[in-house]
Amino acid sequence: MEEKIKQVAQWIVQAKRTVVFSGAGLSTESGIPDFRSPGGVWDRYNPEDFYFQNFLASEASREKYWQMATEMYEPMKKAQPNPAHLAIAEMERLGKLDCVITQNIDGLHLKAGNSEEKVIQLHGTAMSVSCLNCRKRYDREEIQDRIRKGVKVPYCDDCGGPLKPATISFGQSMPERETEEAYHRSSSSDLFMVIGSSLVVQPAASMPLVAKRNGARLVIINRDPTPYDHMADLVLHGQAGPIMASILEEVKKALGGLD
Ligand code: APR
Repeated sequence: MEEKIKQVAQWIVQAKRTVVFSGAGLSTESGIPDFRSPGGVWDRYNPEDFYFQNFLASEASREKYWQMATEMYEPMKKAQPNPAHLAIAEMERLGKLDCVITQNIDGLHLKAGNSEEKVIQLHGTAMSVSCLNCRKRYDREEIQDRIRKGVKVPYCDDCGGPLKPATISFGQSMPERETEEAYHRSSSSDLFMVIGSSLVVQPAASMPLVAKRNGARLVIINRDPTPYDHMADLVLHGQAGPIMASILEEVKKALGGLD
């Protein structure tokens, strides 16, 4: 593992456009369960209850959705960035990060210090709420307050439309601008680092392929194997936090200890 860590650090120093691609595995060390590990979200909830069509279908399914979304939101709200998030923010500070494409909705890349324009939230964010009718945006806390005060299903103050966290559910169309941008940045990257994703959900999981096909080096840092391991230039199986912290130590050494 030592050798691999040194090699990835070298590639980061040499690269011109490094794209980090993160999944729920990046946030488990911050106390947020991922989806497909044992004990993850899909062990505890039925994915169908999160389908967009289901949410639209009835008041009762919206009520159930908001109950589950509230349960999942509380740990997210308290969660702090872990060493892996901090290492990625450090890459930006060192001028060694083109962007982060994240499938995560927990907002931890921003909390860790990455700037808005460097973070592409492919699956939206749980930190805001939007009206499905007029698209008015609300802060998540404001709507959670209404729920704490007994509102079962929140509706828009302006148009009465149904409110939903600004995340992308199964069956909901992907955000156009973010998806376009993610494809563009993946295809023009020369180093593409997947961190903490099972790479099974499309179209997000096609980004590493786009990068590789356009000549990028592909690094996968993940606890379990992924379907793309065979095409990676390097695979590091283990915990993202310690691995990314060690990689950034090596990067800073190579850059002459710049702070
Ligand atoms: N360090 C490294 N890898 C980890 C860690 C960790 N601390 N914890 C978990 N992992 C790995 C697991 O081995 C797993 O392969 O992270 C991966 C998490 O995979 P998923 O739970 O499938 O999460 P993700 O890939 O982000 O899922 C994609 O699926 O349900 C949808 O919209 C949801 O964005 C999500 C998408």
